[in-house]
Amino acid sequence: MSDRTASLLGAAAKYLPGGSTWMWNLPPELAFVVDRGEGSHVWDTRGKRYIDYVLGSGPVLLGHAHPAIVAAVQAQAARGSTFQWLSEPTIRLAEAVGQAVPCADMVRFVSTGTEATMFAIRMARVFTQREKVLKFEGGWHGLHDYAMVGNWRTGEAPYPAAVPDVGGIPKGALDSVLIVPFNDLTATREVFETHGQEIAAVIVEPLQRAIRPEPGFLEALRDLTRRIGAVLIFDEVVTGFRLAYGGGQEYYRVTPDLATYGKALTCGYSLAAIAGRADVMETANPARKGGLEYAGLSGTLSGNPIACTAGIAALGELRKPGVYGRLHALGRALRDGMSAIARRRNVALQAIGDGPIAQPVFIDPARRITADRDFKHADGKRAARLGHELIRRGVFVIPGAKMYVSLAHTDADIDETLAAFDAALAVVD
Ligand SMILES: Cc1ncc(COP(=O)(O)O)c(C=O)c1O
Repeated sequence: MSDRTASLLGAAAKYLPGGSTWMWNLPPELAFVVDRGEGSHVWDTRGKRYIDYVLGSGPVLLGHAHPAIVAAVQAQAARGSTFQWLSEPTIRLAEAVGQAVPCADMVRFVSTGTEATMFAIRMARVFTQREKVLKFEGGWHGLHDYAMVGNWRTGEAPYPAAVPDVGGIPKGALDSVLIVPFNDLTATREVFETHGQEIAAVIVEPLQRAIRPEPGFLEALRDLTRRIGAVLIFDEVVTGFRLAYGGGQEYYRVTPDLATYGKALTCGYSLAAIAGRADVMETANPARKGGLEYAGLSGTLSGNPIACTAGIAALGELRKPGVYGRLHALGRALRDGMSAIARRRNVALQAIGDGPIAQPVFIDPARRITADRDFKHADGKRAARLGHELIRRGVFVIPGAKMYVSLAHTDADIDETLAAFDAALAVVD
């Protein structure tokens, strides 16, 4: 290990809890420090190159250090970084999101996806004057108190009661969240029958992690929420600008009342958005300040011009012809390639996902995966070991999680990845 890498990892272990700033870590023999990223690759401080399927946990849909984004950010940085008041990039990006997203009459910017879903839920509560939120087991909406329930401890709760994933979630927060398995319309209808008049919002990832919605599921949510006057929130932090330019709502053809964005919106700068119906978005109007009809949206760096400039440049690239055809083709090639290799090796594996998202799951290919609880039939430890073996072979993934493909990935990258996958699979049997 080079002195620089050893010293950096030593300082990380000393100053960052668990040597990490996120929710995962690597075994010591695989630990590395990113030195730089370009296109579909990152390099570590020892000079080792990785094909990157982490993409910063999804934002870097155009590839690292995309020239159009670098130029836009450099130009704005020299003109000032943040003003807490309107600037042209903020307004122009709101306009671009408004034109891209079917549900977006209006848009509000915050800094992270966690804030976006937290505020969307609050806006729905203010709008409906109701309290409960229905979310789907395993659906990820960030780390606030209404989101860190029903994700990790699958099957422990008497549905629709919520079980916390971490410590520190107050009982009041738990009591206001209802949990139902994804794609389970029977359970959803039952909860609507019992709690309908208390439900402020249904929040759903249109593609839940890598699990596709069953035909008719999102349409039924649209119908049920409309009938009881609840707000339907699509959490498009992952799917936004990734499955299609108009996100999951364009791709799956169901328009929610509110939608949350982040990640690919700026391809790597800290910005997120809430977009939606004008009457619900009006709860963010500062003219309401002082009353309980106000949802109180703001944030020191919300809508800062550097991130918004990056967003304008990113959306400009993503609007170009052929982008989504290419992203879907790359994702398909990766999923089909992994499935074919597993079949040849007689390994029970499915490569799930949609668009430029792929996740290898060690599970009987005949078993349908429609909800998070289906993963109890999968070998998650083996998936984590596979991830470690991929990293060892120069393919950067979050072990056991989904893989993100960017527009910068080449056919040669996919071929090289599949060769590494083949070799990795041979040693994680
Ligand atoms: C669907 C979804 N919603 C919300 C979030 C939270 O976003 P952030 O990490 O920017 O707070 C994430 C993050 O992974 C996500 O995947």
